[in-house]
Amino acid sequence: MTYGKLADGYPSSSKWLHWLVAGSVLITIPIGIAMGRVGKGPLQDTLYTTHKSFGILILGLMIARLINRIVVGAPAPAPGLARWQRAVSSATHGLLYVLLILQAVGGWLANSAYGAPTPFFGLFELPALRGKDQAFAEQVFGNHRIFGFVIAGLAAMHIGAALQHYFFKKDGVLQRMLPRALGGN
Ligand code: HEM
Ligand code: HEM
Repeated sequence: MTYGKLADGYPSSSKWLHWLVAGSVLITIPIGIAMGRVGKGPLQDTLYTTHKSFGILILGLMIARLINRIVVGAPAPAPGLARWQRAVSSATHGLLYVLLILQAVGGWLANSAYGAPTPFFGLFELPALRGKDQAFAEQVFGNHRIFGFVIAGLAAMHIGAALQHYFFKKDGVLQRMLPRALGGN
């Protein structure tokens, strides 16, 4: 990852992409958990469609984000962080990039193998990535469920760290990702 190209805060393209992905992930995970647990019916159908649509949106945003990250880079690590904090922080960020992309592609792939449609907010449907194969779908969905919880855990850790920097350490780490209008740099 190309740290060190920018003086302090993240550029606005990175901030936009960060908050769009963050909002989408925080919507997609609870819907994913709820949709298998409500009974069959129109509510369940809507939850599935919404989960799949946001999952595909995350895939598109993450591809844009990866390109943005390669092109504009990211600021050097916030000063004052211990070596282990830098290591945990960049490992968490890197893992989130990789897992979010794999999770979205895996969801789409398993859904195709299951023989279910992949709608995008009622606007259009994406093509199936492969033919029907129930055993394969079950296997990939098994991983999708596990990785869903791994991503939730990493996101919780990440949000906890950001809030801890803001409320307790008061060292300006959160401000690096906040829009200028909200006090960011
Ligand atoms: C990064 C994006 C995604 C995240 C974070 C995510 C997360 C999750 C989570 C947490 C669950 C619930 C696991 C459980 O209750 O045990 C789930 C289930 C599911 N997801 Fe996703 N998902 C994403 C993308 C997608 C996409 C793109 C599709 C399809 C196009 C999809 C289709 C499904 C389906 C069908 C299930 C139910 C699987 C089952 O019950 O066997 N997901 N997802
Ligand atoms: C309330 C929620 C959140 C807050 C307050 C927050 C805060 C932050 C902050 C302050 C940074 C910059 C850290 C630094 O200066 O090095 C950052 C980076 C990052 N955040 Fe979040 N975040 C939130 C939600 C999320 C979610 C849900 C995800 C994805 C699951 C996420 C993924 C990332 C990634 C991948 C980076 C690294 C960006 C890069 O270096 O390109 N964040 N976040």
